[in-house]
Amino acid sequence: MAAWSRKSYRTARAALVRVASPVCRGEGGDPVKWGHAPIHASKQSSTRAVAEERKQTVERTLSIIKPDAVAKGAIGDILKTFCDAGLTIIAMKLIHLDEDGARGFYAVHKERPFFTDLVAFMTSGPVVVSVLEGEGAIAKNRELMGATDSTQAEAGTIRARFGTDIERNAVHGSDGPDTARIEIGYFFNASEIQAPVEAL
Ligand code: CMP
Repeated sequence: MAAWSRKSYRTARAALVRVASPVCRGEGGDPVKWGHAPIHASKQSSTRAVAEERKQTVERTLSIIKPDAVAKGAIGDILKTFCDAGLTIIAMKLIHLDEDGARGFYAVHKERPFFTDLVAFMTSGPVVVSVLEGEGAIAKNRELMGATDSTQAEAGTIRARFGTDIERNAVHGSDGPDTARIEIGYFFNASEIQAPVEAL
């Protein structure tokens, strides 16, 4: 078999980088991290230092677009909201939770009076689960969602736009780094999450 020349290696790697691109990247996305900006060789070490520094604050969070928002046809608008805010979708699936799945996900609320209704609502139709990545992704997503009670959510937030009340509130987002890790692992295994280009 012919040995790979430096040129053919570069061509293949460029193709791989294109294939490995995440689902979407908003205006605020990070071209340095994802290796899409043409980086001049002499700038590579300082660029790597900047990327290393940024990696410190890059977080992942779990998002669920709930059955009410899916039924309203709001999937596209909500995903665009994430992308426009600079969050990158690095994993995503459309699923229909069964009762065990919903009870397990919301187990922390199992003693609350609304638990049975919450499980019934979350199993009433398909949901979109995704992993969002970006700087301060957890807080950013919570800001985009608005208050838990849709009637109290600030105008323009996802819950104000697509939710109805405190139960039918359009979206879920992790509330902290530990919860995010557990919630992401609840729906995705490692091979289903898009790896950053520099990890290839
Ligand atoms: P979510 O962000 O998915 O986290 C837990 C969910 O429980 C919450 O959104 C609401 O959908 C629901 N929830 C929280 N508090 C109440 C409540 N008081 N009554 C009904 N549902 C609630």
